Amino acid sequence: MPAAEYASRRERVLAELKSKQKGAVALLFAGDARGEDPYRPHPHFEYLTGIDDEPGAMLLLDPNEPVASRRAVLFLRPLDPEVERWDGLREGIGSSLRTRYGIATIMRHRYLGRTLSTATVRAKRLCCLHPPAHFDQPLSPDLDLFRKLAERIPGTEIVADADLLPRMRAAKSPAEVAMIRHAASITRAGFLAAMRSIRAGLDEYQVESTLDGAYRAGNSRRHAFRPIVGAGINATVLHYHGNCEPLESGDLVLIDSGAEFGGYASDVTRTLPIDGRFTKRQREIYEIVLKALDAGIKACRPGKRLSDVDAAARKVVTAAGYGDCFPHGTGHHLGLEVHDATPDEPLRVGAVLTVEPGIYLPDERIGIRIEDDIEVTAKGPRNLTRDVPRTVAEIERAMGR
Ligand code: GLY
Ligand code: MN
Ligand code: MN
Repeated sequence: MPAAEYASRRERVLAELKSKQKGAVALLFAGDARGEDPYRPHPHFEYLTGIDDEPGAMLLLDPNEPVASRRAVLFLRPLDPEVERWDGLREGIGSSLRTRYGIATIMRHRYLGRTLSTATVRAKRLCCLHPPAHFDQPLSPDLDLFRKLAERIPGTEIVADADLLPRMRAAKSPAEVAMIRHAASITRAGFLAAMRSIRAGLDEYQVESTLDGAYRAGNSRRHAFRPIVGAGINATVLHYHGNCEPLESGDLVLIDSGAEFGGYASDVTRTLPIDGRFTKRQREIYEIVLKALDAGIKACRPGKRLSDVDAAARKVVTAAGYGDCFPHGTGHHLGLEVHDATPDEPLRVGAVLTVEPGIYLPDERIGIRIEDDIEVTAKGPRNLTRDVPRTVAEIERAMGR
């Protein structure tokens, strides 16, 4: 992703802070490493900087700063050579780091207090850019700081715009769609390898490891989420993650998985017959789910809402008599997060969604979900995962039995 794209995103937030929030100052936190492996920054921070290896970093956005190059300031933890000998080398602040990040003003944490106070005295408004926490959750670090500033600088107002970044993030740029498309192509290689290798007697985790191998070979750094490989009755458990039981002849296996690329997720589900051929009954249910998927995809148009996509898919399942066997939502935005930021507004060109209807019949050991990733374009929906075999004929051919 070019550094200029991050710069233009920051410019847009600065412009919105200036026009809609009367020049309020915002502070975004990357978040701490807190044992996550590997570390991922808060997605709003990543969206505005592309920086994914600086836990503790902060981005100050001050639309009233007279010097344009100081309206976005990146604050980084101090260097600590002893810690870095264990955790990895970090670069000093200089022109090389400024060029790499495309940010003209980078400071260490110790300058935050002074810079933020100066900005607050000038603006008298501080803006929180994430959704409110519940009363029993911890205070977010920006609000904690804002409260301290308001106590010290009388007349300071704290405002919020939780929808600003979700609105931006929900319409992907061409570069972002290219990332998701690439992640999807790696995922396709994983599913093709799984389709070729699946047979009775394997364990679910062996299917998972086939996906792993293909994702790594395709240069994906990690799964976008914990994969589900559920065979037989496990295919009917919506959040099954055991992935440790044997694949039995005559059953289906449901695989819900996606590679990540460049920080962007893909998210695909396919349901396969372990013997390589669907039974008549499995096929009957499969065709209903596929029809529901296609109806949902058709509704992925600018001006529609996720609820319209859900209604279109659900109508097919309900008409077939299986409405009660489809207990989950039909899809979600996809991007830096697998369940990506969702603004309260209709779909726009550039939105990327999953559509993922399912029918679950535990009494018959049948659980079928099919999930595709769809780009909303001015010309209609574009299925980014269409070439992962998805019809009965395509799957049976890919499984080659
Ligand atoms: N794999 C997560 C989801 O489908 O939403
Ligand atoms: Mn999924
Ligand atoms: Mn999904």
